[in-house]
Amino acid sequence: MWSNRWLFVLAAAGSAVGLGNIWKFPYIAGENGGGAFVLLYLLCVAFVGIPIMMAEVLIGREGRHSPINTMRTLTQQHHRNRLWVTIGWMGVVAGFLILSYYVVIAGWALHYIWQMAEGTFVGATGELAEATFDAFLADPWQLVLWQTLFMVATVWIISHGVIKGLERAIRWFMPLLFVLLMVLLGYAVNSDGFDAGWDFMFRFDWSALDQGSVLIAMGQAFFTLSLGMGAIMAYGAYLPSDTSLTGTVVVIALLDTLVAIAAGLAIFPIVFSNGLDAGEGPGLMFVTIPLAFGQMPFGVLFGTLFFVLVSFAAITSAISISEPALAYLVEQYNAKRSRVAVSLGVIAWILGIGSVLSFNHWSDVHIVGTLTFFDFVDYVSQNIMLPLGGVLIALFAAFALPKTVVGNQLGLRHPAVAVVWKLLCGVVAPVSVIFVFAVTVGLDELVLGLLGAGG
Ligand code: PFF
Repeated sequence: MWSNRWLFVLAAAGSAVGLGNIWKFPYIAGENGGGAFVLLYLLCVAFVGIPIMMAEVLIGREGRHSPINTMRTLTQQHHRNRLWVTIGWMGVVAGFLILSYYVVIAGWALHYIWQMAEGTFVGATGELAEATFDAFLADPWQLVLWQTLFMVATVWIISHGVIKGLERAIRWFMPLLFVLLMVLLGYAVNSDGFDAGWDFMFRFDWSALDQGSVLIAMGQAFFTLSLGMGAIMAYGAYLPSDTSLTGTVVVIALLDTLVAIAAGLAIFPIVFSNGLDAGEGPGLMFVTIPLAFGQMPFGVLFGTLFFVLVSFAAITSAISISEPALAYLVEQYNAKRSRVAVSLGVIAWILGIGSVLSFNHWSDVHIVGTLTFFDFVDYVSQNIMLPLGGVLIALFAAFALPKTVVGNQLGLRHPAVAVVWKLLCGVVAPVSVIFVFAVTVGLDELVLGLLGAGG
């Protein structure tokens, strides 16, 4: 059990706040035109993410096992179809896919700790920052080296059990990361590009949005909140029964969103003051942030610290990505935690080599359409598997679990909460996800076309 509610909040926030907020959110917002995308993402967090997060924590706390065994226990106990257990298995697969590339990107952050400490970016121009990053990406051996270091660190931590070390560390590092983001934000507010950056994030230009962006915004909501694969369910299993679930979930979602918005507001002004490209892709954070620190007093110190904290935020997320698989194997086969951790790490590491190569030797190898191996693994896990898993979790919580169980978990002090939650979880979230899937594959045009042809 977490020693109290706040420590659960910290751990779940440690899972939620990670590369998704600081690295991914700004770069995909940049690639998808900003404002309208940001709005969609916020809507998805509020109306799909929060209710599904409640469902995950609720199921986890009710089942009190690893996600796969939690689903087994609950389906048996309430005589439901065993197919629901697929939710747990899908989560394990999604976890492997995500972990494989997550560790690669986290390795970049690790590498940038040294780059910053060496003062590479002091007084640097945009071109230099870009060239430094491109040179780094071009060298697969470097990428593998940092990927390996980060994987070893992750495996070491998960081998030693999650709870104790994490609690203490998260309590210090998370607030510090937030403070440094505020320092960056202060710098951004005073830069020439602030108005342009603000406009980019908050002017809702619907024409910048295409069908594909809608799915990416939704996938990002799942990814950033760690939803749809059992990670939060696994942590929920440790949450004390008397803690308010709704309040806790809302706090975590707010914290997570705040960090993402702060990162965007820090990064885009730097993009526009230095004539960089907002749609530059996965390198966005690694080009803009060093640039800002390079121009700041004490930039070497702050910049180094920043990448230390980002690496830390990434590791608390990486730990939670592996937790569903790890917890299951340890529980089911009574296996040694360290042995399971090493095996998981090796498999994800091998898979990650594909992502490493996507940034150099395989950059022209496209798995589907224009997607490289990295893009493909990222796309399938984030935009398809997480939303799908999330919907199944939502439907299970809303319709397969008995009302009394859900009522007890949500706490019946506010009956209205349960009603609103059921509406969101049972109807709004699934309908939105299915709608977004349909829009993405162009079913709407197909239906309209058929209607047109028929009429
Ligand atoms: N939420 C993490 C981030 O934003 O970086 C990533 C993540 C963690 C995704 C755990 C999925 C997960 F289960």
